[in-house]
Amino acid sequence: MANVVVVGAQWGDEGKGKIVDWLSERADVICRFQGGHNAGHTLVIDGEVFKLHALPSGVVRGGKLSVIGNGVVLDPWHLVTEIETVQKQGVEITPQTLMIAENTPLILPLHGELDRAREEAASKGTKIGTTGRGIGPAYEDKVGRRAIRVADLADEATLIARVDRALQHHDPLRRGLGIDAVDRDGLIAQLKEIASKILPYAAPVWKVLNEKRRAGNRILFEGAQGALLDIDFGTYPFVTSSNVIAGQAATGTGVGPGSIDFVLGIVKAYTTRVGEGPFPTELDDENGQRLGEQGHEFGTTTGRKRRCGWFDACLVRQTCVTSGVTGIALTKLDVLDGFETLKICTGYELDGERLDYLPIAADQQARCTPIYEEMPGWSESTEGARSWADLPANAIKYVRRVEELIECPVALLSTSPEREDTILVTDPFSD
Ligand code: IMP
Repeated sequence: MANVVVVGAQWGDEGKGKIVDWLSERADVICRFQGGHNAGHTLVIDGEVFKLHALPSGVVRGGKLSVIGNGVVLDPWHLVTEIETVQKQGVEITPQTLMIAENTPLILPLHGELDRAREEAASKGTKIGTTGRGIGPAYEDKVGRRAIRVADLADEATLIARVDRALQHHDPLRRGLGIDAVDRDGLIAQLKEIASKILPYAAPVWKVLNEKRRAGNRILFEGAQGALLDIDFGTYPFVTSSNVIAGQAATGTGVGPGSIDFVLGIVKAYTTRVGEGPFPTELDDENGQRLGEQGHEFGTTTGRKRRCGWFDACLVRQTCVTSGVTGIALTKLDVLDGFETLKICTGYELDGERLDYLPIAADQQARCTPIYEEMPGWSESTEGARSWADLPANAIKYVRRVEELIECPVALLSTSPEREDTILVTDPFSD
């Protein structure tokens, strides 16, 4: 298959980093298509640790083209720092190896300030638990048609007009929240200064990708966050502000939907969530604590402790549909080692009725109670397993039951953070 989309099929943090790294070795082009530096991918290559937030994972591998698509919101100051950090680690980044879509909207300092001020002002129940990086306010400006986009950095008069348009909206908002008006001239000066560092990477990405595709190059579309944080299909309003599902790979880069050959959904063998919002299978007991400890469940971007719970097959079945998942990569199976009994959520009970999907209304979501199926656990270690023969019988039964319940096959199984500790069933890039 020529072009593969990788999406998180839960609430993010499914272990995409390792899988994307493994696939990016086989790809020619690696594209980010949504989100921003709210994402966090840790890559370990030959013992060197790379922490990436805005850059596509392919940058750390030589000979690849990395692309930031128009579906992303980009903090140019953060990006420049991130580029400098990986350059210091010996990675070469040039306009030949990194391209940024000219129509990518920028995240400005005022977006982060607004994000954080709103979260601080929010009362219990309305706080989203955002990463505080300005993602939501930047997307609001994009759809409000007042964003500053990468291409605007090239022309001073356009840039000034865009800043004035944005401040017309933001200054009254800030006043309402008790924040000082934006220092207009200071912001313009900052943007003019960063422009020379960003513009060399600006490119008509839709056109470059078309040429690459026609030349037979393999393109990997690297999703961030997870489908349950999708602005349309996630647990709204406790979501991120972009479309996260696989269809966004097309609109977020400018390729047609027919160019996507395989959608790989990344699924953790249990469930986690950072931030606020419904989580039907959340565990507040020692099992939840144990999943968090064994799974090292702390956020890469914010360091926050992740909420943990049993595997929710009902939700993953749903996200496999909305993203058109061809096969899943099941990660962190080894974290379940040593549990005597495991539970899988197969549906919900709501007002005496059984549902096989999570309803969209927030009050109904809050009242849904999970219906569980129990499975025996295993005492043996699965850590580092590289073939089915290395897995205990009960672990295989668990994986097979997951496949049945989510109605989607396992393409890859990951049993440790090491890239070789993977059982390959179907290579998404194979023809
Ligand atoms: P925002 O994307 O910063 O606006 O945050 C909105 C919601 O998405 C919050 O619940 C965040 O915790 C969550 N979120 C954003 N990025 C990630 C991620 O990369 N992994 C997991 N959760 C995320």
